[in-house]
Amino acid sequence: MRKLGLLTGLVILAAASGLAATGGVLAQTAPRPAAPANPPPAPPKHISASDQLPYWAYPVPTRKWPEPDPKEVLRLPGTKVVKTVAQTNDRFKIADWRPDEHPKMPPIVEFGRAPDVMACGYCHLPNGHGRPENASLAGQPAEYIKQQVIEMREGRRKSSETRMGSINTMMRVAQHTTDAEARIAGEYFSKVKYTKWIRVVETDTVPKTEIAARNMLMRHGKGSEPIGQRILEVPENLYRTEARDPASGFIAYVPKGSVARGKKLVESGAGGFPCAACHGANLKGLGNAPALAGRSPSGIVRQLYDFRSGTRGGPAAEMMKVQVANMTPAMRLDVAAYLASLNP
Ligand code: HEC
Ligand code: HEC
Repeated sequence: MRKLGLLTGLVILAAASGLAATGGVLAQTAPRPAAPANPPPAPPKHISASDQLPYWAYPVPTRKWPEPDPKEVLRLPGTKVVKTVAQTNDRFKIADWRPDEHPKMPPIVEFGRAPDVMACGYCHLPNGHGRPENASLAGQPAEYIKQQVIEMREGRRKSSETRMGSINTMMRVAQHTTDAEARIAGEYFSKVKYTKWIRVVETDTVPKTEIAARNMLMRHGKGSEPIGQRILEVPENLYRTEARDPASGFIAYVPKGSVARGKKLVESGAGGFPCAACHGANLKGLGNAPALAGRSPSGIVRQLYDFRSGTRGGPAAEMMKVQVANMTPAMRLDVAAYLASLNP
């Protein structure tokens, strides 16, 4: 059975002392999780050395995982569709488990354009709900989606962590995507409704996790540890997530109290303007400012850090750079926990 294979493969993150600190007296005295097995790059010179890259939002695998058997047959609840592992890993003809639950995909979303442009739906899923290691596109403005691909293609939007495989692949895809393809993909995803599929859980302790193979998902390990100043997103059901089921979501573990603190920050503007001023009432998106409500908190933290470190640029990003100038690591975390907890 597949599950057993996973369990035997689990190892525990190397336990070293210190490091996970993200500032604040509390963070330094509270129990802390083990340091990451894969220490992040140092922050760029223009930001303070204590503003460490939040490694937990940028998962980088620490070891090679055994490849699953490509011939294994997969079945999911609530659908008659049957797929092999190989079919769920086809980047140029994606597994469509639930064809009745989204509009008809345009070819760029379903098949991409070999050899350079992988199907957008492979990573972002046919319903655009995305995963913590990529991004949700469903319900985002069509023009925003197109423009982000262009920003990546033209090199104005990069990531602060250059070792994250999923992001590096996105950048390569963008480099070969035409304006027309980005527009068509944007129009498609903007029409798909984004529904809540991240469950935010406030807690002091979390199950130990390890970063899975190329999927870069967190998977449960043995035992538990303090959450510290982190957010950990794990699949509700690893089997279904590995099969790329677009109907099986995620749990986001967040520190106790972070949602209420985040609410205050979002409403006051966290040192800038209230977020709703640009992102719309209920933070559901407005004009070229994307929707934030119910979106992946790891993804939100990555973007806030990337605006701060300057790796995410482009004309519209200038507006966000002002917003994040005074945000501490703890503020970014709280803001993301609150935003993720909202109904999309
Ligand atoms: C290999 C997986 C993969 C494929 C294929 C892929 N993406 Fe992505 N995409 C990502 C990842 C990872 C990110 C998150 C980048 C980050 O967090 O900085 C992303 C981010 C994005 C974003 C930014 C969203 C936001 O709100 O910031 C857009 C837009 C996007 N992708 C569009 C596309 C389109 C259009 C296609 C198809 C032409 C595509 N992607 C194909 C992995 C992928
Ligand atoms: C002055 C207008 C403005 C304000 C105020 C503002 N934003 Fe933004 N935000 C934008 C724009 C515009 C973008 C799109 C940037 C781009 O296209 O690169 C954006 C993008 C983002 C993103 C990236 C989302 C994604 O899917 O990649 C996040 C996260 C974000 N904002 C969070 C916030 C938070 C949190 C606040 C409040 C503390 C806030 N914003 C306040 C204008 C604003």
